Parts: sequence; C-alpha cells; structure tokens
Amino acid sequence: MLTEIEAARTAALASIAAAGSADDLRRLDTELLGKKGALAGLKAGLGRLATVDEKKAAGAVLNDAVASVEAALAERLALLAREERNLQLAAEAIDLTEHFRPSSRGRAHIVTQAWQRLEDVFVGLGFQVAEGPEVETDWYNFEALNMPPSHPARSMHDTFYIDHGAPGSTVLRTHTSPVQIRVMQELEPPIYMVMPGRVFRNETTDSTHLAVFHQIEGLVIDRGITLADLAGTIEAFTKAFFGEGFGSRLRPSYFPFTEPSAEFDIRTPDGSWLELGGCGMVHPNVLRAGGLDPEEWSGFAFGFGIDRMAKERHGVGDVREMYTNDLRFIEQF
Ligand code: DAH
Repeated sequence: MLTEIEAARTAALASIAAAGSADDLRRLDTELLGKKGALAGLKAGLGRLATVDEKKAAGAVLNDAVASVEAALAERLALLAREERNLQLAAEAIDLTEHFRPSSRGRAHIVTQAWQRLEDVFVGLGFQVAEGPEVETDWYNFEALNMPPSHPARSMHDTFYIDHGAPGSTVLRTHTSPVQIRVMQELEPPIYMVMPGRVFRNETTDSTHLAVFHQIEGLVIDRGITLADLAGTIEAFTKAFFGEGFGSRLRPSYFPFTEPSAEFDIRTPDGSWLELGGCGMVHPNVLRAGGLDPEEWSGFAFGFGIDRMAKERHGVGDVREMYTNDLRFIEQF
C-alpha cells in the first residue's frame, strides 16, 4: 500500500511539473484530486487493510501525499499564471515613442473648429454653453417659440418628422431656438447662454444650403435688458471673432419668437456686408413658455449658422465640399 501511495504521488507530481498551461493544471486538479483519481482510489482501499495501526499509518502517508499534490498544483498554477500574464502584457504593449509623419496627423473638421472658436469667444464674453436634443417635440421647436400650428412661418421650416407619438408631434429640430425654452425652464435668470448644435431641414442641398447643418443660438435674460444690449453684444462678438477691422449692423426683420426682430450683418474690412443671422428681443409669449414673467424679465436672442462661418472664413465655394470627406479638401485646413 505504501509503495502504491508513493508511486501515485510521484506520478502526480511529475504530471504537474509537465503541465504547460494554467488550463492544463485546472484539468489536472480534477484528474488527480477528484473522486476518480488514483489517490481517491487508494483512500477507498484503506478499509481493506488488516489492522487499525496499518490503516492509521497508511492514512497519514496518504494525507501527506494529497497535501503535497495540492501544494504543487497551487505553486505551479501561480507560476504559469504569472508567465501567461507577462506574455499577454508584452503582446499588448504600446510603443509610446512611436510617432507618425506630420502629414498623417489628425485635426478637427473646419466646422468643429468654427464651433469651438465660437464657444471660446462667447465664453470670453461671459456666456455659458448648453446643448439640447436633436429630436424635438413640435411644442419646443415651434409652439413654445410663438409658432402655433397655423403659423405661416412654419412653412419656411421644411421639417423632417419622426414617426413617434401622435402624427406630427416629433421632429428633427429645424433650428437651435428650442434650446432657449429648455434653458429658461431649467435655469433661474440671469441667463447668459450660447447653444450650439446640429439642425435639420428637409431641403434640396445646393452650394449654400445643406439639409443637415449647424447653428449657434444665444440667449440673454436679465432685468432691464434692451435692444442696445443686443446691438452691443453683436458688435463685441464681431470684433472678438473676426477682428478689429470688422463691424456689425442690425436690419429690421421678422421672427415669430422675437419682437422687435432684426437680421444682423457683418461689415468686412473692404466695406462689404455679409449677412450672418437673426436676432431680437425675446417675445413675451416665449418668456412665458419658458416659465418666466415678462413683467419681471426681459432679454434678447440670436442665432446663426456655423457652417456658413466656416465657409466664409476659409473661402469655400460650395458648402457641400465640407461634407464629401475628400481628404484632399479636408487636409487643407
Ligand atoms: N431660429 C432662426 C432660424 O433658424 C434664427 C434666429 C432668428 C434665432 C432670430 C434667434 C433669433 O434666436 O432671435 O432661422
């Protein structure tokens, strides 16, 4: 019996030493120490020994053999697991000294660049930045902005409708103006906020129009805000964004969500005018939709296209060029 135990132990230790992987070892664990293993078989055979002393002696040797097999398994498992981990780390190592040719370095798209610069300039003027959802309800996109269902101005927004909820109740926002309402509902005035984002119009694209484009909205709500604050903010923005040689003007216009409303133009250093966006004093109905009392608060709003700014800044002839993702075009900027 004792020589059999010794033989089983030696065989077990030899197969542990020969195991090549942690998985092999886990298999060996069941094989050597499980119910069908040689050691378990010997344990079952203890009962057939003649005397109690013999049983005791053999039992002690058997326990010792099991303990040494367990210890050998654990030790080799730790070793193999460490080796496997080291191999994995070596295989996944990243060479941080590797570098690329300058020409293959990435950069932000010109619309992203314009978006980021606009945010920077407005943050410099004391504004905060907010964003709203691209999928909007009819209420936020139109109704809260003083455009009830019958309003003729709606027909100027060729709207993409989303098949969700009651027919016509969910749209891809046609402008960033609905974020004004969300900001008023969420924040206590004073509010000095710009809201950049992607907008959608169901339009045929041409050299100056895209169906998917970007706008930045501005909203100021405070006590005693006047049209002079609006004109001064537009002028300060123009100089900060375009440079000292530029100026701005407001031209009377109409928007349902502002009263009075204006269009604002930028004067370039050569004296020509560039139409930029719309603005005006926030309409009392819009303040009410945002949960504010028009007797207590007043404010102004403005909105303009970001893609347009990028197009003008870089002298791009056709806005569609900006989205064809032709690297020869994109890599110029
Ligand atoms: N939402 C308008 C548009 O998409 C632009 C606009 C005009 C925004 C006047 C304003 C505003 O905030 O006051 O054409």
